[in-house]
Amino acid sequence: MSNQNAIEFIWNHKPFTIDFESPDAPRPSTTVLQWLRGQIKGKGTKEGCGEGDCGACTVVAAWPDQQGKMGYHAVNSCLIFLPWLHGKHLITIEGLQNEGKLHHVQQAVMNLHGTQCGFCTPGIVMSLFALEKSGLKPTQKTIVEAMSGNLCRCTGYDPINTAANQVLTTPEPDLFTNREQETLALLRAIDRCPERLASSLQTWFAPRSAEHAAALLEQNPGARLLNGGTDLAIGQTKHFDIAEVIVSLDETDELKSWEETDSFWRIGSAITIESIREQWNQPIPMFEDLCHRFASKQIREKATLGGNLGTASPVGDFWPVLIALKATVTLANPTSRRELPVEDLVVGYRATSLAANELIVSVNIPKPEPGWRFGFSKISKRRQTDISTVSLAVALQTNTQQGVSQCIIVAGGMADRPKRASLAEQALLTKTLSRAVIHDTCQKLTSQFTPLTDARASAEGRSLMAFNALNEILLTLSENKPNNHD
Ligand SMILES: Cc1cc2nc3c(=O)[nH]c(=O)nc-3n(C[C@H](O)[C@H](O)[C@H](O)COP(=O)(O)OP(=O)(O)OC[C@H]3O[C@@H](n4cnc5c(N)ncnc54)[C@H](O)[C@@H]3O)c2cc1C
Ligand code: FES
Ligand code: FES
Repeated sequence: MSNQNAIEFIWNHKPFTIDFESPDAPRPSTTVLQWLRGQIKGKGTKEGCGEGDCGACTVVAAWPDQQGKMGYHAVNSCLIFLPWLHGKHLITIEGLQNEGKLHHVQQAVMNLHGTQCGFCTPGIVMSLFALEKSGLKPTQKTIVEAMSGNLCRCTGYDPINTAANQVLTTPEPDLFTNREQETLALLRAIDRCPERLASSLQTWFAPRSAEHAAALLEQNPGARLLNGGTDLAIGQTKHFDIAEVIVSLDETDELKSWEETDSFWRIGSAITIESIREQWNQPIPMFEDLCHRFASKQIREKATLGGNLGTASPVGDFWPVLIALKATVTLANPTSRRELPVEDLVVGYRATSLAANELIVSVNIPKPEPGWRFGFSKISKRRQTDISTVSLAVALQTNTQQGVSQCIIVAGGMADRPKRASLAEQALLTKTLSRAVIHDTCQKLTSQFTPLTDARASAEGRSLMAFNALNEILLTLSENKPNNHD
């Protein structure tokens, strides 16, 4: 790259450079949506909520996948900062039509009456475009997942669903297919993102190693550690909390790598939730249920496991599951590393035991020995794109002589942090899973916690939800059937 203070990408069909040294340069943490609408008149992309909930701002980012072909990903432009675009192909609604002719996805939405006021339509079309490019089969689950982050207030989802079905059933080549080799060549010619981007307003670091990232945190007190940004970006868009220094983990290869051996899975802390779903042939217990209910497709394309633990939210969905799986985290500071059980990482309301110069490198999950069974339940107001009101993860091992020989029950949303339900665990140990034992265990669970009343639910409501969720999981496990919360 000629300019060491710039990012390069393709926007629709033309190469683009943003030079942070130029006098009118935006700060690096300008969102892609702000840049599109505010700086380059890309106003086809709409702004609704500005916090990942409505999908009006959906754009598609494409880059070479592991097979060397272009992979297309729908993302919320309101939660993405500009440097993430480096080396990628950004496709917005304006780029779909070809010489004045609508793209066949647009045509399907129009012909099948999938639009009324039209405000959500660019976002819906972009999600459908990414869905078509994924080459997935037209099942209801696939369509619901692809549309899970797009709200439409007026059309009703039936016509949109019909359009999605048509698009998946009869995919057609388009300008992007025809130009794929040219696009790949352009992207390959772009060097890696510079390690430092600085505008007069902000410095953005993109370190290549965990140790370097940790050293930058040490040298720059107050710097923000950025992973997928689905949590941090909201601080900026909603609370105008703009960091002077950002340390992004987007270029730290180790944190984006993963490993599977006979005895464990090691997941880099910067791997996105969506790619975790795609990576493993042998699924990690409870992950499929959890990922299916985690946020929306657009959010999962960016959100990471490290970020989920980093928020230490009492309703962070991976916490109960990782504690129940006896997972550990590998942490790095500038000079050394240590390993800690996930359970010991959280120390209070949104507080971790991480030192100021420390970060999560990977999450390490031991493969369960035979005889373990698992159950996960998430209760939220909406099935998709909603965080938990209450969640529960259960891992237990039984043997015929002793009944339950080991068990871990973890509750989210019931305390200031995700927490083991130790009284319920004790109630289960050495027992067989009879209805009476299950009932007693559920009562012990609710007797241990004094949950909050807030906008999501009352304390009584939460206790009842936790009781019912545990009851359902244990009944299912007692029958040895796979549980299905959908
Ligand atoms: C619309 C919407 C829906 C959502 N739905 C859900 C849901 O269903 N379930 C759920 O659990 N969450 C949900 N979230 C919250 C959020 O998406 C997740 O917590 C996500 O996993 C955060 O990951 P991230 O990479 O985007 O984190 P970031 O925003 O990059 O970072 C979050 C925090 O973690 C810290 N951090 C990041 N990486 C590391 C690391 N490697 N080491 C140490 N600290 C680190 C950051 O400094 C920051 O404080 C939702 C968010 C939105 C906007
Ligand atoms: S504007 Fe609502 S998701 Fe981005
Ligand atoms: S067409 Fe009006 S919001 Fe969807």
